[in-house]
Amino acid sequence: MIRAQFTFPRGFLWGTASAAHQVEGGDALSDWKAWEAEPGRVLGAHTSARACEWLQGRYIEDFDRAAADGHNAQRLSVEWARIEPEPGRWDAAALQFYRAQLLALRARNITPMVTLCHFTQPLWFMERGGWETPACIPLFERYVQKVAAELGDLCSLWCTINEPNAYMFAAYVAGVFPPGRHNLLLAQQVHLNQLRAHAAAYHALHAARPDARVGWAQYLRGFEAARPGFPPDRWAAHWQHQLFNMGWVNAVHSGRFRMLQRSVPVPECRGTCDWLGVNYYTRDLVAFDLRHPLELFGRRQFAPDDVLSEQGFIASHPAGLFRALGEMQKFGWPMFVTENGVEDAPDNMRPAYLLEHLRALWQAVCFNFPVHGYFHWSLVDNFEWERGWTQRFGLYALDVDTQVRTPRSSAKLYAEICRANAISAEIAQRYAPPVAASMFPGAVLAG
Ligand code: BGC
Repeated sequence: MIRAQFTFPRGFLWGTASAAHQVEGGDALSDWKAWEAEPGRVLGAHTSARACEWLQGRYIEDFDRAAADGHNAQRLSVEWARIEPEPGRWDAAALQFYRAQLLALRARNITPMVTLCHFTQPLWFMERGGWETPACIPLFERYVQKVAAELGDLCSLWCTINEPNAYMFAAYVAGVFPPGRHNLLLAQQVHLNQLRAHAAAYHALHAARPDARVGWAQYLRGFEAARPGFPPDRWAAHWQHQLFNMGWVNAVHSGRFRMLQRSVPVPECRGTCDWLGVNYYTRDLVAFDLRHPLELFGRRQFAPDDVLSEQGFIASHPAGLFRALGEMQKFGWPMFVTENGVEDAPDNMRPAYLLEHLRALWQAVCFNFPVHGYFHWSLVDNFEWERGWTQRFGLYALDVDTQVRTPRSSAKLYAEICRANAISAEIAQRYAPPVAASMFPGAVLAG
């Protein structure tokens, strides 16, 4: 008889995460809509035109799926460009659309977590300088005040900005997100302005709703020296970690933001974290390389023996999740894993990836790290930014033309875990026997 299981604390949140632009379709007014129209910006000239048709109401069937699969939480985002199509003009229908989503979740006993900015912003905002100028702070604050007033009664978990560090890198270093710049100093300025906008949003949400619990989702990527005995590799890995992973975290903790060239006091940011969202996908080895100045002379690569995802985008390194949570728990903030997942259309790797990362999460919980929930990326395949529809992160496969959703084996695996609030040896054995053998060696032998 196989009985071993990893049990999670009562009330643990289990869900998936999504972002407005990636699932809604019909975006007409954001910077991404304009970006997609430019030749060469998105692989295969794919667009988000239909996305997962949430705008047409298909969020209802997706929330039904989530509920049937035992999810008790859902992270989604609201689209600023839809809510405020022109500066200071609010779109009542857009606000109604989001109220309907939150009501639909609550009717299914699913706790919502709402992200206010997930990589997209109104085109008008970008034309005024976007996050490059401090003028972004009152503009974001005004938008957040409006959202808090209109939706605040339906949600208490608020995520101000998704992955400010990944946004800074994609939009201002790699240039693959709008506005497509390659400028490290500007990237740092944007990172600082967003930090101040986050603080303004934090205070605005608390002023509007005493019950609000506000955090942000930090992308935490593992950076390790490719050659641990070679100091230049260690130097590059250290600085990538400090500036990319830790910039905001340290600033919110200490009230000082460290930039490449200077350190700036940001007293209004101090303590603006009721919970920290950890988005963890993978780990890089970093080799010192003078040809990579914008990445602080660090060339990133996966380890030769890493198990890679379908397109080589992600290396499975679950120990990195445990490590990231361990490093973050020192700050004392409650935490959620707000994203974790892998692109894998055939679902060859996902069951093992999911199980191994959830084992790392369970280990973190057992170490008393204050982690309260997990949001897988994502429920349904969705529009993957500059990679278009070439990457499939869904527990459910999406046929974009017919909009038919088909559960992958991982959807069933995840549903069993959510319903049980635990991973049993028996579940692991059915979905990923090699992983079961390492997770539950005794139990599997006995079975
Ligand atoms: C982003 C998502 C994205 C996912 C997979 C995350 O960094 O927040 O929007 O779809 O990665 O690429």
